[in-house]
Amino acid sequence: MKVAVLGAAGGIGQALALLLKLQLPAGSELSLYDIAPVTPGVAADVSHIPTAVKVQGFGGEDPTPALEGADVVLISAGVARKPGMDRSDLFNINAGIVRNLIEKVAATCPTACIGIITNPVNTTVAIAAEVLKKAGVYDKRKLFGVTTLDVLRSETFVAELKGLDIDSINVPVIGGHSGVTILPLLSQVNYADWKADEIAPLTKRIQNAGTEVVEAKAGGGSATLSMAQAAARFARALVKGLSGESVIECTYVEGDGKYARFFAQPVRLGPEGVEEILPIGQLSDFEQNALESMLETLRADIELGEKFVNQ
Ligand SMILES: NC(=O)c1ccc[n+]([C@@H]2O[C@H](COP(=O)([O-])OP(=O)(O)OC[C@H]3O[C@@H](n4cnc5c(N)ncnc54)[C@H](O)[C@@H]3O)[C@@H](O)[C@H]2O)c1
Repeated sequence: MKVAVLGAAGGIGQALALLLKLQLPAGSELSLYDIAPVTPGVAADVSHIPTAVKVQGFGGEDPTPALEGADVVLISAGVARKPGMDRSDLFNINAGIVRNLIEKVAATCPTACIGIITNPVNTTVAIAAEVLKKAGVYDKRKLFGVTTLDVLRSETFVAELKGLDIDSINVPVIGGHSGVTILPLLSQVNYADWKADEIAPLTKRIQNAGTEVVEAKAGGGSATLSMAQAAARFARALVKGLSGESVIECTYVEGDGKYARFFAQPVRLGPEGVEEILPIGQLSDFEQNALESMLETLRADIELGEKFVNQ
């Protein structure tokens, strides 16, 4: 399997390169691309770690050489949030970056699975879909918004709050990846005996966890290390799926459109990407209300991406 990271010299990209060098199966290839001139150096640096993953680095304006033969492409290229910004403030810069990179993916490795990390994910995934469609290579089973960080945060915060073993916790997170569109299904967590006043503040903390990091970094960027671990977990799941194993992860994909064209939910991954979109299951009244009240925002975010490409 060949995994390409676009944005590999950034805060997420460098940590992700390190984790993939350590975590990808033996025999995999890791291809690192960024416009920053340091990129070949990042590749040289991680390549000295003794694992059976081959690393190559590419700089310059054109990602094509990095994309040749890629099975999985992870995109974290773009700008990150500073205090006072929300994810939609990144749209003006990141929309064009994602569009240009996806055009190259469509031309070079059109059957690769693509994981979009660049924010605002609710919108950048729609941009990617429209660009792939225009190029005649869109396969909705192969395009993903990486929302795994919302799952990691939910699992961590639930384990802390309820004193549970972190390895026993699985929290589905549905919807999208910003503010109220992030909806952790806490009612579905095994072993957690919830008090009535715990759910709303914990849901809010999970929705605002990215801002917690942005503020704590005080102008130095947004989540990079936890995001890299989230993206590495998602990439490993994709690679396992492509290799014939069945793996379930929550991710933002185009499904049946019941709630919105793109929606994060549990998905079974397989050899062609999405093998099956799984039901979101039974929701509590709190979750049902939260789901209904997020939809307008989520649909508007998606429409913004569609219009960006088509107008
Ligand atoms: N999905 C999530 O859960 C999640 C979580 C945290 C951050 N993010 C997003 O990930 C993105 C990256 O965050 P970061 O902290 O790594 O930012 P960063 O600024 O540290 O790194 C971004 C990198 O992208 C590169 N880049 C810019 N334009 C490029 C292009 N056209 N081609 C290739 N590379 C290009 C830059 O040179 C830089 O190295 C941001 O949009 C951020 O909002 C997503």
